[in-house]
Amino acid sequence: MSDKVFIFDTTLRDGEQVPGCQLNTKEKVEIAKQLELLGVDVIEAGFPISSPGDFESVVAISKAVKYPIICSLTRAVQKDIDVAVDSLRYAKRKRIHTGIGASDYHIKYKFNSTREKIIERGVAAVKYAKKFVEDVEFYAEDAGRADNAFLAQMIEAMIAAGATVVNIPDTTGYCLPEDYGAKIRYLKEHVSNIDRAIISCHCHNDLGMATANTIAGIQNGARQVEVTMNGIGERAGNTALEEVAMILNTHKHLPYHTNLNTKRIYPLSLLVSKMMRMPIQPNKAIVGRNAFAHSSGIHQDGVIKHRESYEIMDPEDVGIASNSIVLTARSGRNALNYHLRRLGYQLNKEELAEAYQKFLLLADSKKDLADEDLIIMMEGKLISTKIKLKHLQVICGEPLKPLASVELEIDGQSYLESETGVGPINAAFRAVDKIIKEVINVEEFLMQALTQSSRDTGKVHIRIRHNETDYHGFAVHEDTIVASVTAYLDAINKISKFKRVFLKQQSDLPLAIL
Ligand code: KIV
Ligand code: ZN
Repeated sequence: MSDKVFIFDTTLRDGEQVPGCQLNTKEKVEIAKQLELLGVDVIEAGFPISSPGDFESVVAISKAVKYPIICSLTRAVQKDIDVAVDSLRYAKRKRIHTGIGASDYHIKYKFNSTREKIIERGVAAVKYAKKFVEDVEFYAEDAGRADNAFLAQMIEAMIAAGATVVNIPDTTGYCLPEDYGAKIRYLKEHVSNIDRAIISCHCHNDLGMATANTIAGIQNGARQVEVTMNGIGERAGNTALEEVAMILNTHKHLPYHTNLNTKRIYPLSLLVSKMMRMPIQPNKAIVGRNAFAHSSGIHQDGVIKHRESYEIMDPEDVGIASNSIVLTARSGRNALNYHLRRLGYQLNKEELAEAYQKFLLLADSKKDLADEDLIIMMEGKLISTKIKLKHLQVICGEPLKPLASVELEIDGQSYLESETGVGPINAAFRAVDKIIKEVINVEEFLMQALTQSSRDTGKVHIRIRHNETDYHGFAVHEDTIVASVTAYLDAINKISKFKRVFLKQQSDLPLAIL
C-alpha cells in the first residue's frame, strides 16, 4: 500500500456550514485557488442541491481550479446526484460524494428504515452516480457509532457497486482514537474488496479528538483525510488540515507523505479566518498567534540559545516568518538583548543592565512591547498618557446616514470631530481617525455578548495594523458602540506614536497632534 495520504479539503463545504461563516462565490473561488496552490488533492466545493448559491460556487470553482479533484456532496437521492453532475460539468477532474447513515440511530430514527434497505439505497446511489463519473466516494454517515460488522457489510456492497473511496465519518465526534483506529483496521481485515478503494477519515471534534482520530485512521490503513483550514466546521469543527500536515511532517519516522506545500498554511489560515469572520484562538496549534510565541524568560533564553530546545517545528515551515520572542514583564535580559541587537543596538553589560531596568518599568505598564517601544525606550524618555474617550454620540437608523461625534482627550486637551460612515461604528472610527490624523487599518473586529440576552454587555476584540505591526484592543461595555470605540482606542494607545513621547530632538507635544 502506498504511503501517500490524500488531502481532501472540505473547508468550503463542511467548514462553511458554520453559522455566520457563509461565503459568496467570489470568496470561495479565491480560497479554492489558494487550496490548489497549497497542494490539496481534493476540494469539496459544496452541496449543490442545498442552494442556488452552492450550485453556482461548485460551477465557478470547477472553472477556476485545474489540478485538484472537485467534489460535490449529495444525499443518496437521484435528484441530488443529477444536480451534482450538472454542477461539475466544467471540472477537469470530478468526484461525486454520496452516502447515507450507517449507525442504528440514523437508520431507525432518521430514515425509519432497516439495515438491509439502507444498503440497497446506498448501492442504488453509487450505481447511479457511477453512470456519470468514474470517481464516486461513498460516506457511511455516523460510522463512528455504527456496528463494525454491519459497516463492513455496507462498505463491501458500496465498493462492489463502484465506489472508489469509502468515507468512514465520525460524524458526532464520539470515537476514542484507539476505537476509531480499530474500526479502520476492522474494515481492512473484513471487507473482501477493500483493496479496490481508498479508505477516508472524516472526523469531527466534539470531544477534541478529531486530529488524534484521523492520525489513528491513517496508522490503521486510511489513505485519505477530510480536513478543514483552522479546523472550522459544524459545532466544534472538523479535523484541522494544518494539524495533520504538521504531525506527518514533524514525526519523521512516520512513512506517510502528502502533496502539501506547508509554507502556504499560515497565509491561507489567515485568509480563511478573515473571509469567514472567524477569529483563530490565540493558542490554536500551528496557526494561533501564540503558537510560536515564547514569553517566559526560561523559554526565551532556551530558544535564543538553541531553537529546538522549546520548538518542535520551524515556524518558517508553515509560512510564519520567525518565532516570536514576545517581550513581556516576564522576559529576561537575554530576550531584551536579542531584540535590541536585532534593532541595531550593541550594548555592553552595564548598558544592558540599565536598559533592562527601563524595560521592566515599560513592560509593567504595557502588555506586549513592539519594536517602536524599544526604540523610544532607547532614544528618549517615555511617559505613558492615554488617548481617552470623553464623549460619544451617534445618530443612525433607516434611512438616516450614520453620523458620529467623538470627543477625545489627549494630554489634557479635548478634540472634537464628527464623521459619517457605513454604520455607527465605522462613523465613530472615522471620527477618531480624523482627530489623530491617521487612517487606521482594522484587520479584525469581533463583538461577543457576555451572556445571551438583549440587555447584554458587549465584549469587543479588535486588531489593527500600523507600520507592519499588529496591535490588539479590548473593551467591555453595555453600549456596543462605546465598547467598539474604547477597544479601538485601546489598540491605538499601544502604538508608541500615540503616546506622549519626549524624544530628545522633539518638542513635548504629543505626536498624535503634531
Ligand atoms: O460528518 C459527516 O458525516 C459528513 C458527511 C456528509 C460526509 O459531513
Ligand atoms: Zn462532517
